[in-house]
Amino acid sequence: MKKWKAPHAITGPIAEGKDYFDRPEIEEEFWRRVKAGHHIRFLAPRRVGKTSIMKHITANPQSGFICFYENIQSITSMSALFQRIFEMVLKCANKKEKAKSWMLGVTKKFNIKEITATGVKFDSKGLDFTKELSDLLDSMVEVEHHVILFLDEFPEIINKMRKRGADSEAEAIEILHQLRELRQTGRFKNFTMVIAGSIGLEYVVKKIDRFKNINDLQPIRVGELDHKEAKALIQKVTKGATIQYDDAAMEVLLAKVGYALPYYIQVMLDAVDTLAKKEAIEKVSPELIEQAFEHIVRHDPNLEDWYTRLNDTYDTELKFINEVLKTCAKDGRLSIQQIANIAQAHNLDTECVGLMDDLCNDGYLIEDDNHIYSFVSPFLQAYWKRKFRIL
Ligand SMILES: Nc1ncnc2c1ncn2[C@@H]1O[C@H](COP(=O)(O)OP(=O)(O)O)[C@@H](O)[C@H]1O
Ligand SMILES: [Mg+2]
Repeated sequence: MKKWKAPHAITGPIAEGKDYFDRPEIEEEFWRRVKAGHHIRFLAPRRVGKTSIMKHITANPQSGFICFYENIQSITSMSALFQRIFEMVLKCANKKEKAKSWMLGVTKKFNIKEITATGVKFDSKGLDFTKELSDLLDSMVEVEHHVILFLDEFPEIINKMRKRGADSEAEAIEILHQLRELRQTGRFKNFTMVIAGSIGLEYVVKKIDRFKNINDLQPIRVGELDHKEAKALIQKVTKGATIQYDDAAMEVLLAKVGYALPYYIQVMLDAVDTLAKKEAIEKVSPELIEQAFEHIVRHDPNLEDWYTRLNDTYDTELKFINEVLKTCAKDGRLSIQQIANIAQAHNLDTECVGLMDDLCNDGYLIEDDNHIYSFVSPFLQAYWKRKFRIL
């Protein structure tokens, strides 16, 4: 037998460089909104491709823009967050030759010893970064570039702080408030803030009752690939691989994947390849695709994540959410009337519609025109059905 060649599938890590499959519609929407002067929040559940898109934009900015991306989930206080954003601006400007004289002025003003890719060394202690950040952005008019900062996993910070007690929750509210102030002054014409994260940002913020503090951020939704894109992705990933897909095979695979996220498509290509290699089959078939689907539902550790995440996000509403998802997985669909009955049993009549919206925004369920809910992804539905099969 010839040497087996696996498809080049990325199934978990950020898709970067040549592994990145272009999402032109989302990228164009992003640039349109930035140029219209908006700040942005990326709305999408985990593994939809937010980080890959943001890192791609960062590595390929349009002319006149400098982008800087950081995952900021480990931050635990307001001062640490503002210091981090302050440092991001500096590291960003540091990338540009043109900003040199501005940088010199800034390093002098703030007694900065060194700026490296990992951090900024200050000589003076006790700087009030909340105030200094605003001054820093003010002075940036001199830099003839538009700075875009991507703050990934931002809601994690707010969620963790809200769970730590009343003082910490008050600080989280203050963060939202201060960041909004920063955006709202309208002074910083060449600065854009982009926020993204996998816990429903809206849910976490609504929980602490300050939704108005983020509603100026323009939402950009990241969803599935269209049919043509999905096929192009299959062709790209399987180029040169032993297992090849003709049009009919691609249709079978995409029908099984359902909601066409790059993640699920590549997980399927990978699973089909593993099974085919094990059984020394060089041609893909509907049976093999079916087996691959079952294999993923049983063994993909990332599916568990969807379940545990609910525990991290919800508290008093958890029982209601669990029952809704369990029933929906079993029956394949759930009407708004059935949901209302479940809500009543849990004393959550008023919260019910908001919670269902959150489950839709977070990528669990989808609602049709007749208010019938079903799982977005067949993988997720099959996983849930299996998990609760004896209940
Ligand atoms: N543009 C893309 N090209 C190729 N694969 C992608 C792309 N976007 C997402 N993926 C797939 O989804 C997985 C998760 O992507 P990631 O950007 O980390 O998502 P998120 O930040 O929304 O959680 C990747 O490991 C890859 O399998
Ligand atoms: Mg991410």
